[in-house]
Amino acid sequence: MALSSKSIPDDDLNVQLRAAKSQLVLYAKDLNELLVREQQKSKKLEATNKQMQAYAQDLNAAYQTERQKTSELEKAYMDTVVRLTLASRYKDEETGTHIQRLSHYSKSLGLYIGLSEDEAQLIFDAAPMHDVGKVSIPDMIMQKRGPLDEQEWDIIKQHPVFGANLLAGSPSQLLETAREIALTHHERWDGTGYPQGLKGDGIPLGGRVVMLVDTYDALRSRRPYKPAFSHAKVCDIMLNGDDRTRPTHFDPQMLDAFREIHEQFDVIFSEIAEEGMAAPTID
Ligand SMILES: [Fe+2]
Ligand SMILES: [Fe+2]
Repeated sequence: MALSSKSIPDDDLNVQLRAAKSQLVLYAKDLNELLVREQQKSKKLEATNKQMQAYAQDLNAAYQTERQKTSELEKAYMDTVVRLTLASRYKDEETGTHIQRLSHYSKSLGLYIGLSEDEAQLIFDAAPMHDVGKVSIPDMIMQKRGPLDEQEWDIIKQHPVFGANLLAGSPSQLLETAREIALTHHERWDGTGYPQGLKGDGIPLGGRVVMLVDTYDALRSRRPYKPAFSHAKVCDIMLNGDDRTRPTHFDPQMLDAFREIHEQFDVIFSEIAEEGMAAPTID
Protein backbone atom coordinates (compact mmCIF):
# COMPACT_ATOMS: atom_id res chain seq x y z
CA MET A 1 0.00 0.00 0.00
CA ALA A 2 1.34 3.33 -1.04
CA LEU A 3 1.99 5.95 1.58
CA SER A 4 0.33 9.41 1.13
CA SER A 5 1.70 12.60 2.68
CA LYS A 6 -1.65 13.15 4.40
CA SER A 7 -1.83 9.86 5.84
CA ILE A 8 1.64 10.12 7.32
CA PRO A 9 1.80 13.26 9.48
CA ASP A 10 5.23 14.42 9.91
CA ASP A 11 5.23 15.51 13.50
CA ASP A 12 8.55 17.28 13.31
CA LEU A 13 7.51 19.19 10.22
CA ASN A 14 4.28 20.24 11.86
CA VAL A 15 6.08 21.41 14.94
CA GLN A 16 8.46 23.44 12.81
CA LEU A 17 5.66 24.90 10.77
CA ARG A 18 3.76 25.91 13.88
CA ALA A 19 6.87 27.45 15.34
CA ALA A 20 7.53 29.34 12.13
CA LYS A 21 3.93 30.49 12.01
CA SER A 22 3.95 31.79 15.53
CA GLN A 23 7.29 33.46 14.80
CA LEU A 24 5.75 35.12 11.76
CA VAL A 25 2.78 36.22 13.85
CA LEU A 26 5.20 37.74 16.32
CA TYR A 27 7.11 39.49 13.52
CA ALA A 28 3.87 40.81 12.09
CA LYS A 29 2.88 42.06 15.52
CA ASP A 30 6.28 43.71 15.97
CA LEU A 31 6.08 45.23 12.53
CA ASN A 32 2.62 46.52 13.26
CA GLU A 33 3.77 48.05 16.52
CA LEU A 34 6.74 49.56 14.72
CA LEU A 35 4.44 50.97 12.08
CA VAL A 36 2.14 52.47 14.72
CA ARG A 37 5.14 53.96 16.52
CA GLU A 38 6.50 55.42 13.24
CA GLN A 39 3.09 56.84 12.43
CA GLN A 40 2.94 58.41 15.88
CA LYS A 41 6.45 59.76 15.42
CA SER A 42 5.59 61.22 12.06
CA LYS A 43 2.46 62.82 13.55
CA LYS A 44 4.61 64.28 16.34
CA LEU A 45 7.14 65.52 13.75
CA GLU A 46 4.34 67.10 11.77
CA ALA A 47 3.03 68.81 14.91
CA THR A 48 6.56 69.96 15.79
CA ASN A 49 7.03 71.24 12.27
CA LYS A 50 3.80 73.24 12.53
CA GLN A 51 4.89 74.57 15.90
CA MET A 52 8.25 75.64 14.44
CA GLN A 53 6.51 77.39 11.58
CA ALA A 54 4.32 79.23 14.08
CA TYR A 55 7.43 80.24 16.07
CA ALA A 56 9.12 81.45 12.87
CA GLN A 57 6.07 83.53 12.02
CA ASP A 58 6.00 84.99 15.55
CA LEU A 59 9.73 85.76 15.34
CA ASN A 60 9.32 87.40 11.98
CA ALA A 61 6.43 89.52 13.28
CA ALA A 62 8.51 90.49 16.35
CA TYR A 63 11.47 91.34 14.08
CA GLN A 64 9.29 93.53 11.87
CA THR A 65 7.89 95.32 14.95
CA GLU A 66 11.43 95.87 16.26
CA ARG A 67 12.55 97.17 12.88
CA GLN A 68 9.68 99.60 12.83
CA LYS A 69 10.47 100.70 16.39
CA THR A 70 14.15 101.14 15.48
CA SER A 71 13.30 103.20 12.43
CA GLU A 72 10.89 105.30 14.54
CA LEU A 73 13.69 105.72 17.07
CA GLU A 74 16.12 106.74 14.33
CA LYS A 75 13.52 109.24 13.07
CA ALA A 76 13.23 110.59 16.63
CA TYR A 77 17.03 110.94 16.75
CA MET A 78 17.01 112.74 13.41
CA ASP A 79 14.35 115.05 14.83
CA THR A 80 16.65 115.74 17.79
CA VAL A 81 19.41 116.51 15.33
CA VAL A 82 17.33 119.00 13.39
CA ARG A 83 16.20 120.76 16.57
CA LEU A 84 19.69 120.92 18.08
CA THR A 85 21.04 122.24 14.80
CA LEU A 86 18.30 124.87 14.65
CA ALA A 87 19.14 125.93 18.20
CA SER A 88 22.81 126.36 17.34
CA ARG A 89 21.96 128.39 14.24
CA TYR A 90 20.24 131.03 16.34
CA LYS A 91 23.61 131.74 17.89
CA ASP A 92 25.84 131.61 14.88
CA GLU A 93 26.49 133.25 11.57
CA GLU A 94 26.55 129.80 9.99
CA THR A 95 23.44 129.21 7.93
CA GLY A 96 21.14 126.32 7.06
CA THR A 97 22.65 126.11 3.60
CA HIS A 98 26.16 125.84 5.09
CA ILE A 99 24.98 122.83 7.07
CA GLN A 100 23.37 121.19 4.04
CA ARG A 101 26.47 121.74 1.93
CA LEU A 102 28.63 120.26 4.67
CA SER A 103 26.63 117.02 4.55
CA HIS A 104 27.04 116.76 0.77
CA TYR A 105 30.77 117.55 0.70
CA SER A 106 31.32 115.05 3.53
CA LYS A 107 29.49 112.26 1.72
CA SER A 108 31.34 112.89 -1.58
CA LEU A 109 34.70 112.91 0.19
CA GLY A 110 33.79 109.87 2.32
CA LEU A 111 32.76 107.80 -0.70
CA TYR A 112 35.88 108.86 -2.64
CA ILE A 113 38.23 107.72 0.14
CA GLY A 114 36.49 104.32 0.21
CA LEU A 115 33.83 104.52 2.90
CA SER A 116 30.75 102.34 2.35
CA GLU A 117 27.46 103.98 1.40
CA ASP A 118 26.20 103.47 5.00
CA GLU A 119 29.35 104.94 6.58
CA ALA A 120 29.26 107.95 4.26
CA GLN A 121 25.54 108.42 4.97
CA LEU A 122 26.23 108.35 8.71
CA ILE A 123 28.67 111.26 8.35
CA PHE A 124 26.15 112.99 6.04
CA ASP A 125 23.51 112.78 8.81
CA ALA A 126 25.86 113.59 11.72
CA ALA A 127 27.87 116.47 10.20
CA PRO A 128 25.12 119.11 10.67
CA MET A 129 25.59 118.85 14.45
CA HIS A 130 29.29 119.77 14.43
CA ASP A 131 28.68 123.22 16.00
CA VAL A 132 25.77 122.48 18.38
CA GLY A 133 28.10 123.34 21.26
CA LYS A 134 27.83 127.00 20.25
CA VAL A 135 24.45 127.11 22.04
CA SER A 136 26.47 127.12 25.26
CA ILE A 137 28.61 130.15 24.33
CA PRO A 138 27.34 133.47 25.76
CA ASP A 139 25.64 135.75 23.19
CA MET A 140 27.94 138.63 24.12
CA ILE A 141 30.82 136.60 22.72
CA MET A 142 29.00 134.94 19.79
CA GLN A 143 27.54 138.19 18.53
CA LYS A 144 30.39 140.51 19.39
CA ARG A 145 31.27 142.99 16.67
CA GLY A 146 34.98 143.36 16.38
CA PRO A 147 37.86 141.15 17.36
CA LEU A 148 37.66 138.74 20.30
CA ASP A 149 40.20 138.96 23.12
CA GLU A 150 42.22 135.95 24.21
CA GLN A 151 39.87 135.03 27.03
CA GLU A 152 36.86 135.13 24.69
CA TRP A 153 38.69 132.92 22.18
CA ASP A 154 39.41 130.44 24.97
CA ILE A 155 35.67 130.24 25.63
CA ILE A 156 34.81 129.84 21.91
CA LYS A 157 37.36 127.04 21.70
CA GLN A 158 35.33 125.11 24.24
CA HIS A 159 32.36 124.70 21.84
CA PRO A 160 33.54 121.25 20.66
CA VAL A 161 33.52 120.03 24.27
CA PHE A 162 30.12 121.63 24.99
CA GLY A 163 28.73 120.01 21.83
CA ALA A 164 30.15 116.60 22.69
CA ASN A 165 28.62 116.84 26.18
CA LEU A 166 25.23 117.68 24.69
CA LEU A 167 25.35 114.67 22.38
CA ALA A 168 26.96 112.18 24.80
CA GLY A 169 25.40 109.09 26.33
CA SER A 170 23.01 108.15 23.53
CA PRO A 171 22.68 104.55 22.32
CA SER A 172 22.12 105.93 18.81
CA GLN A 173 25.00 105.35 16.40
CA LEU A 174 24.02 108.60 14.71
CA LEU A 175 24.31 110.69 17.88
CA GLU A 176 27.53 108.92 18.89
CA THR A 177 29.07 109.76 15.50
CA ALA A 178 27.78 113.32 15.87
CA ARG A 179 29.40 113.51 19.33
CA GLU A 180 32.74 112.38 17.92
CA ILE A 181 32.53 114.90 15.06
CA ALA A 182 31.45 117.76 17.35
CA LEU A 183 34.40 117.05 19.65
CA THR A 184 37.06 116.76 16.94
CA HIS A 185 36.07 119.01 14.00
CA HIS A 186 38.68 121.65 14.95
CA GLU A 187 41.53 119.19 15.46
CA ARG A 188 44.29 119.35 12.85
CA TRP A 189 46.38 116.55 11.37
CA ASP A 190 49.61 118.28 12.48
CA GLY A 191 48.40 118.57 16.09
CA THR A 192 47.87 122.36 16.11
CA GLY A 193 44.08 122.17 16.49
CA TYR A 194 41.79 122.29 19.52
CA PRO A 195 40.42 121.38 22.04
CA GLN A 196 42.66 118.35 22.65
CA GLY A 197 45.52 118.94 20.18
CA LEU A 198 44.99 115.46 18.72
CA LYS A 199 47.29 114.45 15.88
CA GLY A 200 47.12 112.26 12.74
CA ASP A 201 45.11 109.04 13.00
CA GLY A 202 44.38 109.95 16.63
CA ILE A 203 41.65 112.20 15.22
CA PRO A 204 38.50 110.18 14.40
CA LEU A 205 37.83 109.93 10.68
CA GLY A 206 34.49 111.79 10.87
CA GLY A 207 36.27 114.72 12.56
CA ARG A 208 38.96 114.77 9.84
CA VAL A 209 36.32 114.79 7.08
CA VAL A 210 34.23 117.57 8.63
CA MET A 211 37.30 119.66 9.46
CA LEU A 212 38.32 119.71 5.79
CA VAL A 213 34.86 120.37 4.34
CA ASP A 214 34.04 123.00 7.01
CA THR A 215 37.27 124.82 6.12
CA TYR A 216 36.38 124.76 2.40
CA ASP A 217 32.89 126.14 3.03
CA ALA A 218 34.04 128.79 5.52
CA LEU A 219 36.62 130.02 3.00
CA ARG A 220 34.00 130.20 0.24
CA SER A 221 31.54 132.09 2.46
CA ARG A 222 31.53 135.69 3.58
CA ARG A 223 32.31 136.08 7.28
CA PRO A 224 32.46 139.23 9.44
CA TYR A 225 36.25 138.98 9.31
CA LYS A 226 36.68 137.99 5.62
CA PRO A 227 35.10 138.18 2.15
CA ALA A 228 33.87 135.14 0.18
CA PHE A 229 36.66 133.57 -1.88
CA SER A 230 36.34 131.93 -5.31
CA HIS A 231 36.65 128.16 -5.70
CA ALA A 232 40.07 128.53 -7.34
CA LYS A 233 41.37 130.72 -4.50
CA VAL A 234 40.05 128.32 -1.85
CA CYS A 235 41.73 125.37 -3.60
CA ASP A 236 44.97 127.33 -3.66
CA ILE A 237 44.71 128.18 0.05
CA MET A 238 43.94 124.60 1.06
CA LEU A 239 46.50 122.92 -1.18
CA ASN A 240 49.32 125.48 -0.79
CA GLY A 241 48.46 127.35 2.39
CA ASP A 242 48.17 131.02 3.43
CA ASP A 243 48.78 132.89 6.67
CA ARG A 244 45.95 131.02 8.50
CA THR A 245 45.52 127.69 6.74
CA ARG A 246 48.28 125.14 6.11
CA PRO A 247 48.04 121.94 4.02
CA THR A 248 49.50 120.13 7.05
CA HIS A 249 46.22 120.85 8.89
CA PHE A 250 44.49 118.19 6.78
CA ASP A 251 44.73 114.42 6.60
CA PRO A 252 47.02 113.98 3.54
CA GLN A 253 44.83 111.19 2.15
CA MET A 254 41.81 113.49 2.33
CA LEU A 255 43.68 116.44 0.84
CA ASP A 256 44.71 114.17 -2.07
CA ALA A 257 41.06 113.17 -2.46
CA PHE A 258 40.04 116.85 -2.39
CA ARG A 259 42.61 117.55 -5.11
CA GLU A 260 40.85 114.91 -7.26
CA ILE A 261 37.21 115.82 -6.61
CA HIS A 262 37.37 119.56 -5.80
CA GLU A 263 35.06 120.32 -8.72
CA GLN A 264 32.27 118.39 -6.98
CA PHE A 265 32.70 120.79 -4.04
CA ASP A 266 32.24 123.76 -6.36
CA VAL A 267 29.06 122.20 -7.81
CA ILE A 268 27.66 121.56 -4.32
CA PHE A 269 28.51 125.12 -3.27
CA SER A 270 26.74 126.59 -6.31
CA GLU A 271 23.71 124.31 -6.13
CA ILE A 272 23.04 124.88 -2.43
CA ALA A 273 23.62 128.59 -2.46
CA GLU A 274 22.79 131.13 0.22
CA GLU A 275 19.23 132.40 -0.12
CA GLY A 276 18.97 135.51 -2.25
CA MET A 277 22.67 136.02 -2.16
CA ALA A 278 25.07 135.80 -5.05
CA ALA A 279 28.03 136.67 -2.88
CA PRO A 280 30.81 138.59 -4.57
CA THR A 281 33.91 136.46 -4.47
CA ILE A 282 37.57 137.37 -4.24
CA ASP A 283 39.97 135.62 -6.59
FE1 LIG B 1 33.12 124.62 15.14
FE1 LIG C 1 30.66 124.89 10.28
